[in-house]
Amino acid sequence: MHTLTRTETGEPFMESVEGKVVWKKLLIIPLFIFIFAFCFFASVHQFWTYEPEQYNFSPSLQTAHAGNTSAAPKDKRKVIILLWTWPFGQRFNFINCSELYGSPNCHFTVDRSWSQKADAVIVHHRDVCWNTKGLTQQPRFPSQRWIWFNLESPSHSPNLGAMKNLFNLTMSYRKDSDIFVPYGKLQLLDEPQPLSIPLKTKLVAWVVSNWREDSRRVKFYHELKKHITVDVYGQQHLPLPRDKLLFTVSQYKFYLAFENSQHEDYITEKLWLNALSSGTVPVVLGPPREIYERFVPPESFIHVDDFASAADLARYLLELSDDAERYQRYFKWREWLKPVAGISWAMHVCRACHFLQTTELSTCLDGTFLKLLSFLKSPCWTLANPFGNSVCGFASFNQDQKHVVALLAEGRRF
Ligand SMILES: *[C@@H]1O[C@H](CO)[C@@H](O)[C@H](O)[C@H]1NC(C)=O
Ligand SMILES: *[C@@H]1O[C@H](CO)[C@@H](O)[C@H](O)[C@H]1NC(C)=O
Ligand SMILES: *[C@@H]1O[C@H](CO)[C@@H](O)[C@H](O)[C@H]1NC(C)=O
Repeated sequence: MHTLTRTETGEPFMESVEGKVVWKKLLIIPLFIFIFAFCFFASVHQFWTYEPEQYNFSPSLQTAHAGNTSAAPKDKRKVIILLWTWPFGQRFNFINCSELYGSPNCHFTVDRSWSQKADAVIVHHRDVCWNTKGLTQQPRFPSQRWIWFNLESPSHSPNLGAMKNLFNLTMSYRKDSDIFVPYGKLQLLDEPQPLSIPLKTKLVAWVVSNWREDSRRVKFYHELKKHITVDVYGQQHLPLPRDKLLFTVSQYKFYLAFENSQHEDYITEKLWLNALSSGTVPVVLGPPREIYERFVPPESFIHVDDFASAADLARYLLELSDDAERYQRYFKWREWLKPVAGISWAMHVCRACHFLQTTELSTCLDGTFLKLLSFLKSPCWTLANPFGNSVCGFASFNQDQKHVVALLAEGRRF
């Protein structure tokens, strides 16, 4: 057995944002209309510009609604969000949140002259963690919410201490975030789909961009390749243009969805996009199996921790590749569920707007900095959520995911 450690501190961080631009357009259908008022998005198109004039800002309206999130109808409430920096400096086009979450009246800007009028300010951790001066000197009015936004794992989220007492809400891939923004999700289909597995001509693929010899995943790979052939793509390996990624990986029976560090809920596009969206079977290395099972069906992936050694895993993969019926079981869940990956920055900020429009914030405990600390210390696979449901958040999106997970548990018919 391997010990699980935070291995790759200092690894370049671009990795987790890779794959985000791949899906320009997603087609999604409304789901669970009754209880959750959760709308999956229809189509994504660009329509917004950054001129504040366009928002037709009205101070009186703003004041009237500030702090009164129960105003009816909630989802009509105008919300102005200032994005403090482009995440990693990557510009993107804001989208019309109406079509994603049924949230009209979401207004976004990156123009800081709006900082005194914005309902919320989204701050991307990696862009400010080494220089918080601009932030700390920023005057803020009492009802304004500052949102700490981060999709990197704790191993790659330096200087959290500098964030102390700055934020009101957290926004990350962790399920206990106020605003939960995962790297991917499952969409429940309207009707069952027939089994369809891409043609398989090869065995095991791995796409890796940040190679570090001392990382757990590279060490594991060195063991594994003694027993089974692994085709490695990426820098200093086989070339793979981005637009060929899904097709190339789809030809393999298995894909090594190895995370760069192991932390609670830290499951990235390596699983959602590279493996699941391409139609292969993920072999995962990351948080423990129970955590993966919060997000995806138990029989949708193979976990390295299920095996005593890399040799045992290799033996299992070889057996499975010769047993069509057993191999197909890893696709059974797709009868009812579809993986959705490539959730963009623009969708994430819509998620924040939807949260602000629909969640009663007055009941929030002020646990934000504790949450940040818990993020930092995140003893990865600790399942207990110290904040329970008492802290604000856990809006419809979370509940929706819980519903999917409950469906999965029920009879495991997928
Ligand atoms: C909040 O909004 C509702 C609906 O518009 C209104 O009835 C209520 O008085 C407002 N509450 C406060 C504290 O402003
Ligand atoms: C956003 O989409 C909604 C619903 O499709 C539409 O009514 C609205 O006009 C759109 N807003 C803008 C600014 O295009
Ligand atoms: C947000 O957090 C700041 C800093 O802790 C605090 O001063 C402010 O009152 C909070 N705002 C809200 C609306 O809770």
